[in-house]
Amino acid sequence: MVAANSVPSDAAPVSSRLSFEPLRSSSAEVDFGVEVSPGDVSRLDAAQLDQLERAVYTHQVVVVRDQLELCPRAQLELTRRFDPRARSYGHGHRNDLMAKSVLTRDLVSIPEVPQVKLLGNGRIYDHEGIPEVELHHPSHHGFHRDELSAEEEERGLTRFYRWHIDAALYDYHPPKVTTLLALQVPENRMQTVVYGDGSGDTLEVSLGSTAFISGVTAFERLSPEWRAFALAAKACYAPHPYIWMKHARSLANGVGLASECRELGRGDLPEVDERALMTLPLVWTNPITGKRALMLHAYCVEGLIIDGRRIDELAEVRRLLYALMRPAIAPARVYAHPWRPGDLVIFHNRGVWHSVVGSLKPGDVRVYHQCNLASSEPPLGPMA
Ligand SMILES: [Fe+2]
Repeated sequence: MVAANSVPSDAAPVSSRLSFEPLRSSSAEVDFGVEVSPGDVSRLDAAQLDQLERAVYTHQVVVVRDQLELCPRAQLELTRRFDPRARSYGHGHRNDLMAKSVLTRDLVSIPEVPQVKLLGNGRIYDHEGIPEVELHHPSHHGFHRDELSAEEEERGLTRFYRWHIDAALYDYHPPKVTTLLALQVPENRMQTVVYGDGSGDTLEVSLGSTAFISGVTAFERLSPEWRAFALAAKACYAPHPYIWMKHARSLANGVGLASECRELGRGDLPEVDERALMTLPLVWTNPITGKRALMLHAYCVEGLIIDGRRIDELAEVRRLLYALMRPAIAPARVYAHPWRPGDLVIFHNRGVWHSVVGSLKPGDVRVYHQCNLASSEPPLGPMA
């Protein structure tokens, strides 16, 4: 814990203020992200926690260094601090439904604190009550329509897996924040993200980094016409979206799905509760800064409502979303966090998009704890 400053005896103690530094990025277009080394984050006082919370909303991504000792329960408590009335699961779904979802293969619940998920890569033993488990870093193989060849991956080429926000998008409101703790990271060799969308774009990243872009920049850099479109549009999310899309294949740059009629029909889905369907604006307002951000999970969208008119034709829906989203992932706008063991990243899940990156080998051991909680309230719309 950071030591308190000395204070006059008749005054309440004044805690040390946390000191935030901008994250180092090679691009001037990345205007978000700070880091802080506060000692043990689980022992911050109320004033410091307030400061941390404000930093997350203001800077969107906060890297808290040296938190190897943060236990799952303390991570849950810290995450809950951002949304005390939050529901248990950020990705939603009962366990029986999770078993059918595309998210299941990447996440293992910590037995004592199931709200915290274990993820990563490689075989690990005796971890937080889990005797033995084989973790798999998400690979674009089997998910992207066009795959890199073995020879390309051998040369260090890789992909954005899927640009997204953490959210169930059915029954549960999107979490406000996600906390992601790196306990073990693989060798820090460099790889090259190939966008594979005809642009020729590439991005150098360290192995297994997590990529972020600012939803604020994504919105503010749109042309006036597209900004007006985004402000007027709402996304209709599919019922049980991660089951609905489980056979669909991603575009190479991770911006959305190819339209190949692979989505499940209503008859192939678990029972649908119409009241749980989610329709959300494309533009969300930050409750602290008042800035507006383009925020959506294109993979889960089945329709759009524009000025009261609904578009259900999936290929057209995806064409429009792609036009909105693709400029946001230009290499100069991406911050790919190069993880160090002990990094705890707290990101504003209603202000940034993120993507898993990297092609790991079985021997590249990566051990992370992730926590996010479905919010008790929907995001603020564009007119908030
Ligand atoms: Fe995620």
